[in-house]
Formats: sequence, C-alpha cells, structure tokens
Amino acid sequence: MAKIKRIVRFGIIGCGLMGREFASAAARWCHLLDLDVQPRIVGICDANPAMMEWFQSNFESIEIATQDYHELLASSAIEAIYCAVPHNLHEQLYSDCLNAGKHLFGEKPFGIDMAANTHILSVIREHPELFVRCASEFPFYPGAQQILQALHEERFGTIIEVQAGFLHSSDLDPAKPINWKRRIATNGEYGCMGDLGMHVLHIPLRMGWMPRNVRALLSNIVRERPGPNGVLVPCETWDNATLFCEVQHAEQHFPMTLETKRIAPGESNTWYLRIIGTRYSAEFSTKYPRSLRFMHYVPGKAQTWQVQDLGYQAAYPAITGAIFEFGFPDAVQQMWAAYCDELVNRERMQQAFYCVTPEEAAQSHRIFTAALESQRSGQVIALETELEESTTRS
Ligand SMILES: NC(=O)c1ccc[n+]([C@@H]2O[C@H](COP(=O)([O-])OP(=O)(O)OC[C@H]3O[C@@H](n4cnc5c(N)ncnc54)[C@H](O)[C@@H]3O)[C@@H](O)[C@H]2O)c1
Repeated sequence: MAKIKRIVRFGIIGCGLMGREFASAAARWCHLLDLDVQPRIVGICDANPAMMEWFQSNFESIEIATQDYHELLASSAIEAIYCAVPHNLHEQLYSDCLNAGKHLFGEKPFGIDMAANTHILSVIREHPELFVRCASEFPFYPGAQQILQALHEERFGTIIEVQAGFLHSSDLDPAKPINWKRRIATNGEYGCMGDLGMHVLHIPLRMGWMPRNVRALLSNIVRERPGPNGVLVPCETWDNATLFCEVQHAEQHFPMTLETKRIAPGESNTWYLRIIGTRYSAEFSTKYPRSLRFMHYVPGKAQTWQVQDLGYQAAYPAITGAIFEFGFPDAVQQMWAAYCDELVNRERMQQAFYCVTPEEAAQSHRIFTAALESQRSGQVIALETELEESTTRS
C-alpha cells in the first residue's frame, strides 16, 4: 500500500523563471522515492497576470490566483510560501509572509542589501515557530555531494586552497536588453555577487569557512544596454567579482577564492568547487556534470588526477537508474525535497544536507558588503568571525 505523505500546501509569489522550476519539480514529485512529504501548489501570485497562465493551464491544484500577494497570505489554505521576486522586494514580501504566519522559502540574496537582510532576520527571530530557508540548488549535484562527504570524512588533510565560483556568459552580448538584474535599484549594489554569490558560498559557509578578511576586485564591463525603446541606458551593476579571502577554521588556515561572473566567455551556467589538500584534492563543475575529478596523494607514489563518472547518486533517492545523468531540474527538485523534508521532520530529516539557513544568508551579506568596501578603498577588509563560525540551524 502507498505510504500516506504529509502534504505541504504552498503559495508561490513570483511566477517567473524560478517559480516555474519549483512548480515543475512539484509536478513530478513521484520521481522521488521514500519521501514522506510532498508539496502541493495551491496559490500563485504575480504582478503580471500573463505570468500565471502557464501555472493555471498545468496545475489543477491551484485554488487562488491573484496579482495581490496579500490574498495568498490571508488564506488559511496556504501554510508555506515560495517567494521568487526581484531583490528590491525581498525585505517587504519576506517580512509580510512571516508576519502572516507562513513558513518561507526565500530566494537569494535574501534582501537587496545588508540593511534589508538584517531586518528580515529580525522578523525571523520574532517567529521562531516558522521554518525559513534560502534557495541554493547546485550543492545537490552528486559531484558536490561527493565533495561534501569527503570534507565530512576529513579526507583532504591540510587544506591548501579552496576555489569556488559561478560563471555566466549571456551578458557578453552588449545588445542584450537591460532588465531588473542589471539595475542597482532592483538588483542591488552587490550586482553579480548578490545574484550568484549565495550559490558559491553555500558549501563553504556550511563548513564554517567564514572568511577573516576579503580583498575584492569588481568590474563593470558593459556599462550601457538597450532600454525598453532600444535607446541605451546605464547598466550600473557589477558584472564580475573575484573575492580573495583568508579562512581560519579550527586547525585549517587557507586562501579561498570566490568568483561570481556574468561575463565569463564560453560559460553558460558553470558552478564549480575545487578543494586542494595535502592528502586529497577534488573538483566538480556543472560544466561536466557527471565527472568528479580527484587525486589521492601518497608520498612516493605518482600524483595522478582521476575522473570518476558519476550517475544519479542523489541525496534523495529517485527512480532514475544510478548510471544515468543528473541535471539542473534534478538539483532544483532535490533542494525542494530538502526544504520539505526539513520543514516536516526537522533534525530527523532523511539525509544530512539542508538548505541555506537565514544565518548563512546573513553571512553572505557581510562578505558582499565587505567586498564593496574593499573595491571602494582598495584595501583588505577584516570580518569578525567569532560569532559566525557556528552553523547551528534555526
Ligand atoms: N535559485 C536560482 O538558481 C535562481 C535563479 C534565478 C533567479 N533566482 C532568484 O529568484 C528571484 C526571482 O528571480 P527570477 O529569475 O525568477 O525573476 P523573474 O523576473 O523571472 O521573475 C520574477 C517575477 O516576480 C514578479 N513580480 C514582481 N513584483 C511582484 C509583486 N509585487 N508581486 C508578485 N509578483 C511580482 C514578476 O512579474 C516576475 O514574473 C530573485 O531573488 C533571484 O535572485 C534564483
């Protein structure tokens, strides 16, 4: 007999790119095995009604479709909200969701800037009964999960260096029209860091690698783009950022380089993590989604990088055979499985890797704010780490 699953009734605010990814993941939930929880999309909201049509023609479960998110928040049929809206709306909408008593899955950067993020965290603290996490799906790729396992097993020895990054190239085309992600008013002064940085920091912050200091090099490469009527308008946000960080954690002390780039020629959506250690090194990139490169160092033996072909070895077991490929929609679904599993089962969740906590999102804001200061001053900016090293869940 089929197991009865706990249904979590969701409302989606923001029916754009990521709102659809969630809905699609929920629609093929049967893909996952052995999970005692399932999301159901019962409410949708978008300021632009045309964005809701795809949902309405594909989801019979939708009971409320509205342009005013307050209607979703007032509905007792909805217990959790996925909010995927432009960054300038995070502070108001996330706070309103929480004050309405809804669990929240927010998108990064979890507030357009440090002040917005600090306010969101203060509202979260007023609602300890609510469960809040921030999106970041790439660490759910099997290659990233393998590296996490190696970290937990302390296979690396002394860590020599960490490099993590997220690279895009669609902004290389100067004719690409301006959109909200290229304006400071809607995307924020962090630019590419706010857009891409939480993905890069999820695993480092989970490992407790809050940097002691940051030296940033930021660049604005394409400074104008066609506006709605084709006339060039300022494109103000940082396109590329490289952050050089010093990490001191437990006995480990190493440099960590974080790259977030919207103009990286040839890279369509490359998330990568590379950890070099004295005993073991490993790297994974979504560019080669089934390959884990690693090297065991044994003194006196050949230093040989090996490539392991990974299949569908996901955190949450699925119907896909272990030899087959894993892709972006799978990572999104695994992230949603982790959110729903943790919402319902808390510390007894089925596997150990949980979504970004609000505290980790707050740490990312401290790093990006320091990076902006470093760019302005040309200096290395120190960060307080003592209170930050805990990865305690809340
Ligand atoms: N996790 C990821 O991989 C990932 C990828 C892309 C974007 N994001 C994040 O998701 C969020 C949304 O980005 P997107 O790419 O989906 O943007 P998008 O522009 O595709 O969608 C945003 C939607 O929000 C709607 N909206 C705007 N104001 C609204 C309001 N007041 N009420 C209701 N709806 C409103 C817009 O009409 C639009 O349909 C951002 O925080 C972004 O950083 C995450």
